[in-house]
Amino acid sequence: MPGATTGARVARILVVHGPNLNLLGTRDPAVYGTTTLAEIDAELVRRGAARGATVTCVQSNLEGALVDAIQGARGTADAIVINPGGYTHTSVAIRDAIEAVALPAIEVHLSNVHAREPFRHESITAARCVGQICGFGAQSYYLGLDAALTIVEGRRP
Ligand code: DQA
Repeated sequence: MPGATTGARVARILVVHGPNLNLLGTRDPAVYGTTTLAEIDAELVRRGAARGATVTCVQSNLEGALVDAIQGARGTADAIVINPGGYTHTSVAIRDAIEAVALPAIEVHLSNVHAREPFRHESITAARCVGQICGFGAQSYYLGLDAALTIVEGRRP
């Protein structure tokens, strides 16, 4: 079992999906692809397990519920992978929550937000994340998980 030989604690990653991402698979497939959220979550859990990590995924269409999920990561997760969806461009509350929990966070987007409408070019939340990955479809999440695990593994004693 990965991690068992070193005695290292299992890395815990929280994946947070924002509004409308529950519709993945049918939502504007030309932009977001045809992979469903359930398929992305299953792949994230599988990839995490292959690296000896637990991955917990949450989705909400409600800003406050997303803030609650991020706050709940304190003490229960080592890093966060977050796609704030449309709240990326509007939510001071989500930005503040990411800052408040002081966990490494990776912002991910399926689409290349910088190649879309001007209002999507600004991310209010990315400045409180380690970095942003966008434009790779579902792969953005897997790259985000890889980044989160690399950070967490690097911080282990
Ligand atoms: C998104 C990009 C956002 O601009 C949009 O509002 C979304 C999805 C993405 O993953 O590409 O809901 O976060």
